[in-house]
Amino acid sequence: METVLSGIRPTGNLHLGNYFGAVKSFVQMQYEYNCYFFIADWHSLTTHPHPENIRNSVKTILAEYLACGIDPEKATIYVQSDVREVAELYLYLNMNAYLGELERVTSFKDKVRSQPDNVNAGLLTYPCLMAADIIIHRAAKVPVGKDQEQNMEMARKFARRFNQIYGVDYFPEPASYSFSDKAVKIPGLDGSGKMGKSEGNAIYLIDDEKTIKKKVMRAVTDSGPTEPNAEKPEPIANLFTMMEIVSDKSTYDHFNELYNTCQIRYGDMKKQLAEDINLFCAPIRERILELLKDEEHLQKVSLLGAEKARENASKTLRDVREIIGFKSDY
Ligand code: TYM
Repeated sequence: METVLSGIRPTGNLHLGNYFGAVKSFVQMQYEYNCYFFIADWHSLTTHPHPENIRNSVKTILAEYLACGIDPEKATIYVQSDVREVAELYLYLNMNAYLGELERVTSFKDKVRSQPDNVNAGLLTYPCLMAADIIIHRAAKVPVGKDQEQNMEMARKFARRFNQIYGVDYFPEPASYSFSDKAVKIPGLDGSGKMGKSEGNAIYLIDDEKTIKKKVMRAVTDSGPTEPNAEKPEPIANLFTMMEIVSDKSTYDHFNELYNTCQIRYGDMKKQLAEDINLFCAPIRERILELLKDEEHLQKVSLLGAEKARENASKTLRDVREIIGFKSDY
């Protein structure tokens, strides 16, 4: 059975981008594949979070994952820092990664610009750790959103390079995966770009009805089309993309028709969209709040996940050490 893996940094709550970019595909795959889902707490250290914040975020994200329908009896859910084998594989991959290629990664270049006082080595070698996360389980498919494409390209490169350097065919090249036929990018409703926690434009699964409505009603629009079947400018296209994802097809078609015939009233469309987002989030929100009350259950889930993930990771590492030429009695 093929292995599927996905992960998230615990730097805030789960938002609609995370859900439709990665979690939804994962939930659908958990019954057909050997699935691993992990919370990337080592990755979050690049911003030097307070220990208390890490503890809380990890717990919250775990509850949110479960509330989305990830079944801990089927999939292995674990916290990255519980599986130290990943750190050893990261070390090996760092030896095969070159400064030039790491410096060219767009998200690294963005960080150099946005946080010049904290350009740490962890940021530079982020793609090596992400590759280690994936190949430690020899995953073949990785549900991720469009924003992870370059990191995925690097993961494939590092898997390939390891095989080439040691003359083995050990690591599969992991493919990005999405429930739709193309990579998903959930837009923000603030005019342009993607939805994201650092972009400050996210609608969170835990947001209540009032908050959702407030966020959607603030979405950027224009004065409306002036000719039939006009191309939609980005802020409007974003609103439609969101509606296509959370609303019924008939609702989407209705507003699309109004747009194409220049009769659209964005206020009505936003009201409908807010309602549909709330309909989608409400049951998940309820489950999150329930799960957060049950600390014992969350702890049990992460212990079980850590055990299963470590078992598989240590098998890989035993092989890797032997391939590299180290003692393999690990
Ligand atoms: P992170 O924590 O930023 O996001 C988690 C997942 O959510 C997806 N995502 C989106 N998809 C579509 N539209 C959006 N607006 C949107 N915003 C976020 C991301 O693509 C991602 O799939 N580097 C990763 C975490 C990671 C990882 C891994 C993922 C570390 N190691 C190994 C997969 C495999 C990250 O920062 O995701």
